Amino acid sequence: MADLSTVVDGLKLPNPFIIGSGPPGTNANVIGKAFDEGWGAVICKTVSLDAAKVVNVQPRYGRLRAAGSNEIIGWENIELISDRGFDVWIDEFKQLKDKYPDRVLIASIMEEFRKDAWVEIVERCQEAGVDAFECNFSCPHGLPERRMGSAMGENPEILKEVCSWVMGAAKVPVWAKMTPNVTHIEDPTRAALAAGCQGIAAINTIRSVIGVNLETLRPEPTVEGYTTPGGYSSKAVMPIALRMCMEVAKVIRDEFPGRTLSGIGGIESGNDAAQFILLGADTVQVCTYVMKVGYPCIKPMLDELSAFMDKHNFKSLADFKGHSLQYFTTHYDLVHRQAEARKAKAAAAKPQTDGKQIKADNEWRGDDFVKQSDALARG
Ligand SMILES: Cc1cc2nc3c(=O)[nH]c(=O)nc-3n(C[C@H](O)[C@H](O)[C@H](O)COP(=O)(O)O)c2cc1C
Repeated sequence: MADLSTVVDGLKLPNPFIIGSGPPGTNANVIGKAFDEGWGAVICKTVSLDAAKVVNVQPRYGRLRAAGSNEIIGWENIELISDRGFDVWIDEFKQLKDKYPDRVLIASIMEEFRKDAWVEIVERCQEAGVDAFECNFSCPHGLPERRMGSAMGENPEILKEVCSWVMGAAKVPVWAKMTPNVTHIEDPTRAALAAGCQGIAAINTIRSVIGVNLETLRPEPTVEGYTTPGGYSSKAVMPIALRMCMEVAKVIRDEFPGRTLSGIGGIESGNDAAQFILLGADTVQVCTYVMKVGYPCIKPMLDELSAFMDKHNFKSLADFKGHSLQYFTTHYDLVHRQAEARKAKAAAAKPQTDGKQIKADNEWRGDDFVKQSDALARG
């Protein structure tokens, strides 16, 4: 039977599934529920020193359903960080650590570009007993207007400076949560790791417009007739999240060995989690799926990850962490490998099995177009 437990940056987790920062970690009540259901750790909804500046609107979610079904595949939110008072949070961190001393509670924090604010939030949260920090450098809406969130995460120089303030005050591990709304996620990753952060969490939501209502002609979610671009999450973002985690994992492998990665984005099953771990993640985070189906989804996720490991005879997460990174290469190299493979096949005088495939763009035909596209696809 596979062992799902793991130690990440000294934090002992019963399994790699973490509640990602958002509504599923929005107060002590729901965080307790997550621990009771068996989640490996919980990251609280992002807290800041002055919640009075955080004013949310309703509605603040927009959902995209798969064509012809009711399944939600994409989710946009224009929700801000926690609107609950900092002192309330500090009390709740203490209560949670009293009640669940062995469970890992991670404080998601965000502040303005002031050293004293970052130092204060770190010191007060760690006095309350939190086990680690995740710095939210990645919220794409609302907060950038105050030069917070992704306004910091998009700028490696500012990010490095803020991370060094945090590292100067933190006595527990610190993860920097990356925005996907950059061209090269490697740049902010390097900045955070160079400043000494133990880990990277990726990704936060992708800047988006979920759709336009064809009756009212207003973009959604519509608040008093207007909207603002928000953050996209859920199943549809997983391919983008996997790509970005792969890029972060390569930076860690090649330049900062020993640092860690928490993979996030669209995870809904044990097999989804296995893919993030194969691309180098130490842990995985789930946010929107818990909003769709509730906390008990942890159980089938654990079973499925365990079954995947048994099938491949992996005894621990370390047995397959990062295994699939080795299979990424350049497109140039793919062309070279395919030419070599075809040469070898011809030399062995075996009949061509891919005769119907397009070899050059002038072979595409209008009448057989879909069949020709199919022949070039896998899955
Ligand atoms: C409604 C909602 C609120 C969120 N609030 C926060 C937040 O306060 N802090 C944060 O770091 N990420 C926040 N996130 C982002 C998630 O933690 C996560 O990075 C993102 O949604 C992708 O993962 P998922 O597809 O599993 O939700 C929020 C996401 C949603 C859907």
